[in-house]
Amino acid sequence: MRTFSPILASRALWQLRVKKRPIVMSHGINARCNMHCDFCEYWKEEKDEMETGDILHLLDEAKKFGIKYYNAWTVEPLLREDLPRIMAYARSLGFITSMITNGKLLKQRAHELDDVDYLSVSVDGIDSYKDIRGMDFDELLAGIEAAKYGRRNPILINCVISGQNLEDVEPLVHLARELGVWISFEPLDESGGIDPAVWEIIGIRDNVKYENVLDRVIRLKKEGYPIINSLTYLTMVRDRNMDFRCHASDLILNVTSDGWIENCRLKTEHLGHIRDGLVNVWESSREQRSKITKECEGCLFFGYAEGSMLYDFKPEVMAHYEWI
Ligand SMILES: C[S@@+](CC[C@H](N)C(=O)[O-])C[C@H]1O[C@@H](n2cnc3c(N)ncnc32)[C@H](O)[C@@H]1O
Ligand code: SF4
Repeated sequence: MRTFSPILASRALWQLRVKKRPIVMSHGINARCNMHCDFCEYWKEEKDEMETGDILHLLDEAKKFGIKYYNAWTVEPLLREDLPRIMAYARSLGFITSMITNGKLLKQRAHELDDVDYLSVSVDGIDSYKDIRGMDFDELLAGIEAAKYGRRNPILINCVISGQNLEDVEPLVHLARELGVWISFEPLDESGGIDPAVWEIIGIRDNVKYENVLDRVIRLKKEGYPIINSLTYLTMVRDRNMDFRCHASDLILNVTSDGWIENCRLKTEHLGHIRDGLVNVWESSREQRSKITKECEGCLFFGYAEGSMLYDFKPEVMAHYEWI
């Protein structure tokens, strides 16, 4: 699905490698959620949200800073009434726009997403979906169907593999092909501030079954099913081996809903605030970011892992990672 633009690629390389600045701004566009997933900590946060004008101003700043992609990713973007206005403004500045949603309001708001270039929807199961997300699967499907209408790029469905949905992983790949969408996988991350008892219920504990499921996904990828992940990444997920050098903070500027800049979704210590200026925060936090990354035990979030391997020009990832 990736469309290669030499102009965009050279601009991205200039920003990353010469200016040593990130190309993506991942934004906590709001601070609330209409689902309370057991494995997620974001819905528990009580942060302020920016006014529309503050976000438009942030986009202006991000443009000057050299950001190329604007990603609205937490907590639940479809809860923001002014989302279409924000996305339209981002596109008018020349950003490539993306967002991820839980899909609960998708059917209702699909017609408002014309300015979202790349839309991801969390789909963590079929039979297991309602237990995991508390919503009827058919309702979610209706939202995806509505969102498909008139879109420039195929939708991506993202499945977090857990102990609850191993049976649904392969059927989801087939479903993705039937629906004409792409699919990504990433494993449940058990490092957040969630009650450990929760991980005992939903964590991946049957390792043999898990590895078999991942082997199957790897085979389906080789057979040409619409899985965006690279084989290198899927193999790392199967082996739970974080065998890459992390460049998350080289690639992505993480801005929270209340304007703090953080290293990444796991290392959330503040690097500075947007009111201090993106350039200032970026330049003054170089050492801090490098220290955080060096000391980090690693993660397997696909955006970070695949992005980091692209940053390092890993040939297989460049050839087979299909997103944006
Ligand atoms: C925090 S959500 C925000 C967007 C939206 N509310 C949604 O559910 O898609 C972004 C992504 O993080 C994933 N996520 C949340 N908690 C996770 C965890 N503990 N391990 C792995 N992925 C997780 C979600 O499944 C989703 O794909
Ligand atoms: S829908 Fe998304 S943000 Fe909300 S609780 Fe679930 S994973 Fe977290």
